Amino acid sequence: MKITDTIKLECEDINHQGMGVGRYQGFLFFVPGLIIGDVAIVEIVELKKNYGFGKIKEILKISPYRIEPACPIYSECGGCSLLSLDYQEQLNLKVRMAEATFNRIGHLKLKVDAIIGMENPFRYRNKALFTFGRIKDEIVCGYYRQGTNEVIPLVDCKTTPHLSTEIALYIKDLANLYGLSVYDNTTDSGLLRQLMLRVNRDGEYMVAMITRDDEIPHCNEIVTELLERYHEIKTIQQIVNRKNSNALIDTEMRTLTGPGVLIDHLMGLSFIVSSQSFFQTNLYQTEKLYKKVIDYAKPQPTDIIVDAYCGVGTMTLIFAAYCRKAYGIEVMSEAISDARDNAKMNNIKNAEFFLGKAELEITKLDSPIDILIVDPPRKGCDQVLLNSIIKQNIKKIIYISCDVATLARDLAYLAPYYKIEGVTLVDMFPHSMHVETAVMMSRK
Ligand SMILES: C[S@@+](CC[C@H](N)C(=O)[O-])C[C@H]1O[C@@H](n2cnc3c(N)ncnc32)[C@H](O)[C@@H]1O
Repeated sequence: MKITDTIKLECEDINHQGMGVGRYQGFLFFVPGLIIGDVAIVEIVELKKNYGFGKIKEILKISPYRIEPACPIYSECGGCSLLSLDYQEQLNLKVRMAEATFNRIGHLKLKVDAIIGMENPFRYRNKALFTFGRIKDEIVCGYYRQGTNEVIPLVDCKTTPHLSTEIALYIKDLANLYGLSVYDNTTDSGLLRQLMLRVNRDGEYMVAMITRDDEIPHCNEIVTELLERYHEIKTIQQIVNRKNSNALIDTEMRTLTGPGVLIDHLMGLSFIVSSQSFFQTNLYQTEKLYKKVIDYAKPQPTDIIVDAYCGVGTMTLIFAAYCRKAYGIEVMSEAISDARDNAKMNNIKNAEFFLGKAELEITKLDSPIDILIVDPPRKGCDQVLLNSIIKQNIKKIIYISCDVATLARDLAYLAPYYKIEGVTLVDMFPHSMHVETAVMMSRK
């Protein structure tokens, strides 16, 4: 067997990166775009000791789960790696993968109780981040071609509202009209880097242009033309990122027009959304997730709850209505400041926020905790926090996770002390491999 050979492969599974998996002569092959049940002729593109990668040459037998993908560039962009798999089958796959991961990493034989999917799994993202690029003499705007620095021109992205694509393409047209330059990371020069759009439930937009330098030529004309054409745009910002990396940290931000923030609504409360703070991107599914968390926690009016990793305080403030006192802990100072403003805006008096690491701040609370909610980033909970949970003898824990592997690790650590009462998956990002998990635990 060598690279460029073609082999016949039956797809048996999909891996955590969304690639089809098949076996040939004792080797595992990973093939983008292949789905369970397909039989295909595959060209070998990379070979390792006992596995390899391939690309589809011809599909000989089409899987009963294969559907027409809703986007013409999905195989190039890679953001929606499951788009050609029937939606119900996507949900079944996420359940199987979560159960297999609990078993493999945590040695836990857990059954997922349910997966909550979307009725209409499109147009769900309230935030989009596009990149500017250049093809010949034209500025283009879109997502990166998978694994490259090349930008694929945007066609209607089905995960965001149609208007987001329209606004992005109009800004790209203005950039061409006014002859702006595009950032090139090989020379670390050029102006336009990325474009961030946020939209709230009222359909109001925040536009943020991410640039390498301070000055945007024809800035006033661009702002005026955008506001005149799209009345939905309420605020426009510029984020200056001078680093040779796209990570939006240590940037300078200025508001070109409007209030610089949007107000959005979740479970009947209002929240301030700024361009750079963490705010849930699929609010339809977030509401379903939070309702499940309330259902698991069953908060009582006498309860004290702690929302570690609280972000801008969404769950802290929602839970405050059900219990005596709600505490939120968060490491980012901007998020804590937004959380305090959110409490004031909603006139919530029994919520308090602490700036710091959850693992340190939790030990400083003097009242016993009845319910603890943890919603950590992908790397999971710090072991110091897990030890503190065990020591403090907290009765109920709801663990929300966006990474099943680190969740499985942390559940295994808590398993001698906590009984796992329920596991629910919520499909936050249909057509991608991501899944959100809520686990209910009670002290043994
Ligand atoms: C997945 S987000 C959850 C946000 C929030 N629960 C929500 O639903 O909007 C994780 C949050 O944890 C914060 N964070 C990361 N490490 C932390 C730590 N050690 N202690 C407290 N917060 C932390 C991040 O800044 C981020 O806001």
